Amino acid sequence: MKALQAVAFAAGLHAVQASLDADAITKQYFGNDAPWYLDRIPFFESSSSLLNDVYYYRWSIFRAHQRDLGANGYISTEFLNDVGWQTNPWASLNDATGFHLLEGRWCRDRRFKEDYADFIYSSNSNTRQFSESMASAVWGGYLVDGVEGEAIKRLGAMQSVFNAWNDSYDTSKGLYWVEPLRDATEYTIASIDATNGQDGFTGGNGFRPSINSYQYANARAIASIATLNGQSDIADAFNSRATAIKERVQDSLWNSTFGHFIDRFQVNNTYVRYWDFIRGRELVGYVPWTHDLPDDTSEYTQSWTHILNTSELAGPHGLRTNEPSYEYYMRQYRYDVASGNPECQWNGPVWPFQETQVLTGLANFLDHYQTGAASEVITQSDYTRLLQQYAQLHYNPARGGILDLEEDYYPDTGTPIVGLTRSLHYFHSGFIDLINTGLVGIRASANDVLEVNPLADPSTIAYFRLDRVLYHGHDIAVQWDADGSKYGASGLLLEIDGEVVATSPSLARLNVTITRIAPPAITRPIAKSVQLNSTAPYPKGSTSTNDTDVDAIHSPIDGRIFFYPEVEVTNGWNSPTGDGSELWFQIDFGAETSISSAVIAFFANETQGFDVPTSYSVQTSSGGVWAGLGNGTHAKPVANGITNVAWEEVSASLVRLSFTPKEGKKVRLVEFKVY
Ligand SMILES: *[C@@H]1O[C@H](CO)[C@@H](O)[C@H](O)[C@H]1NC(C)=O
Ligand SMILES: *[C@@H]1O[C@H](CO)[C@@H](O)[C@H](O)[C@H]1NC(C)=O
Ligand SMILES: *[C@@H]1O[C@H](CO)[C@@H](O)[C@H](O)[C@H]1NC(C)=O
Ligand SMILES: *[C@@H]1O[C@H](CO)[C@@H](O)[C@H](O)[C@H]1NC(C)=O
Ligand SMILES: *[C@@H]1O[C@H](CO)[C@@H](O)[C@H](O)[C@H]1NC(C)=O
Ligand SMILES: *[C@@H]1O[C@H](CO)[C@@H](O)[C@H](O)[C@H]1NC(C)=O
Ligand SMILES: *[C@@H]1O[C@H](CO)[C@@H](O)[C@H](O)[C@H]1NC(C)=O
Ligand SMILES: *[C@@H]1O[C@H](CO)[C@@H](O)[C@H](O)[C@H]1NC(C)=O
Ligand SMILES: *[C@@H]1O[C@H](CO)[C@@H](O)[C@H](O)[C@H]1NC(C)=O
Repeated sequence: MKALQAVAFAAGLHAVQASLDADAITKQYFGNDAPWYLDRIPFFESSSSLLNDVYYYRWSIFRAHQRDLGANGYISTEFLNDVGWQTNPWASLNDATGFHLLEGRWCRDRRFKEDYADFIYSSNSNTRQFSESMASAVWGGYLVDGVEGEAIKRLGAMQSVFNAWNDSYDTSKGLYWVEPLRDATEYTIASIDATNGQDGFTGGNGFRPSINSYQYANARAIASIATLNGQSDIADAFNSRATAIKERVQDSLWNSTFGHFIDRFQVNNTYVRYWDFIRGRELVGYVPWTHDLPDDTSEYTQSWTHILNTSELAGPHGLRTNEPSYEYYMRQYRYDVASGNPECQWNGPVWPFQETQVLTGLANFLDHYQTGAASEVITQSDYTRLLQQYAQLHYNPARGGILDLEEDYYPDTGTPIVGLTRSLHYFHSGFIDLINTGLVGIRASANDVLEVNPLADPSTIAYFRLDRVLYHGHDIAVQWDADGSKYGASGLLLEIDGEVVATSPSLARLNVTITRIAPPAITRPIAKSVQLNSTAPYPKGSTSTNDTDVDAIHSPIDGRIFFYPEVEVTNGWNSPTGDGSELWFQIDFGAETSISSAVIAFFANETQGFDVPTSYSVQTSSGGVWAGLGNGTHAKPVANGITNVAWEEVSASLVRLSFTPKEGKKVRLVEFKVY
């Protein structure tokens, strides 16, 4: 697809460039669901079709994991299906929240990240379930959108969550410790060795580079937000906390024998001793750079050799979570009881979660470390190559090579390890943020500057363009064309609101001032039909077929919309096969409710026998007679996309979607949201 119309580029500044063809791109990648994406995502194109395809797949993951909680707004889920350890009824889990927010900061519709941040700092969320870098990620959102009030209003909650981690703080060492399981990374060296190699699912408390870097970043974020709000006492206190953590991490978790940041044991038992170092390198040792913690020294720089060494952390298909030299590398301990499939472990498998952290850390390192270093240990061509290797993991060889990101991978084959029904299209990592901040290199700033430092390798990336990025209220685009053959202008250029404001003949840092304007206001329509709890009284679904499958009937009002065809992630209520009769799905609000519009999501798949209905209407009953709504406008039914309906506001306690399936076809109602 040639998405960009060629433009004659006048050599000077202020020429207006052509944007990527958003209509064509959304149609190509999202089919009938294109309208959801059209005004919400920045558009990306490069000479790497791998990166392009995965970039848009990651937006489909982002969209699929937006769960509408009704009056509580939207959150991002980690699994598409319910899992036993989620916080109910929301299906929230906080270990990947940092990634969710950092992906969401690039969504032009700021509702998703703001609603989610409201949720995570509300009493509804379990902020202590896993170690977290939530305050840091909220700050990261501010760096892109520039809206101070949204960050400042959370300052109190951020301090409370930060202080709650005092229960995991060892005052004698000045460091935080965590059980690897609670660090989302069960079966690490610490937890396995604490059982003498017998297990490692639980236990193995360690002073880890992860939680200490998270708390460092959270403290810096709190200090920065307090500074915005003119509270220098809070800023000083949290900057001191951050500095103290940084010093302790450098003094205590750097192991010069390994040339790496590694855990020390907090657990003290027959097999391992409190404060001893663990006996190997783990990928978690790069998390300090994810959060800009380490000083820029030649000693710490040596750590970056280990992800380039195939005997160490560099697996053939991705970065290993620990090294082949570890006695229990890749030993499988835990299996899913029902299926017998291997369960998640981090004693070697490639893990998108830490791939994201390492690539973020590497981008930081390449952007603002290694100052004056004589010979570079790692370069932007390594960054581009590792990003592409990570992108490749999104293609699942166990499912015929479809785009399907799962939990963890065999380093030697790139095949997923777990492969359970919960595993598909897993949102426990970032990718869009890596493209935007790393490959394209938008270094989001609290200052009134737009700074871009692309890490694309010009010898393999001949061109790229990222546009419709909403930054400090402006539309930003970054474009690279090595020889001018793609876009008619060679070199790197930066646009603000369609005007070229800076250029460079080669890939280099560009840095321009930018004013700060308010981005478009967030609109928050609230779906009155959403019910998160399948057994709660109202709102409640029912069907003309007297279906008694509680979960199936709940599905069209559960706040989840996605259309992936894999049967493991079936989402919706299935009608019987069409025989010409009219059927209905009904919502009982339990009380008179004023309603005026609906969005309907129909799934369709030829081979599975699902299609949109021949006809449908939204109806309410008056005196026991069901009838269509006043002056209703019913859009033509859309397959795997959104069908919109609107009518003149009425008050009703029952509302129905009546429809007639096509002959021989079933209808799957993914969602019926009524506003
Ligand atoms: C948490 O621990 C730090 C460091 O010891 C201390 O300064 C702070 O007052 C503690 N906060 C709370 C709420 O206990
Ligand atoms: C760890 O265990 C050893 C042996 O039981 C004991 O001597 C030592 O005091 C313990 N250390 C800590 C910090 O509890
Ligand atoms: C690094 O850790 C190992 C234990 O895995 C330990 O033997 C070694 O002494 C440590 N190096 C330093 C400099 O402390
Ligand atoms: C690669 O790693 C192995 C195992 O740690 C080590 O022996 C070797 O020296 C490393 N190679 C380089 C070039 O650093
Ligand atoms: C932009 O450029 C100036 C001058 O080179 C530099 O001091 C600054 O750190 C750069 N970045 C930002 C975010 O201002
Ligand atoms: C779901 O609703 C049932 C029935 O009202 C209630 O007993 C249960 O506690 C609810 N579950 C959650 C997680 O809210
Ligand atoms: C569903 O139940 C109602 C009331 O019991 C009954 O009138 C209707 O025929 C049933 N419909 C089907 C399809 O079984
Ligand atoms: C239909 O579903 C099958 C799986 O049953 C899948 O392989 C196929 O790609 C789907 N078709 C479309 C157009 O999504
Ligand atoms: C439809 O709209 C017309 C014109 O606005 C209005 O007069 C009429 O009452 C409406 N009909 C219903 C059923 O609401």
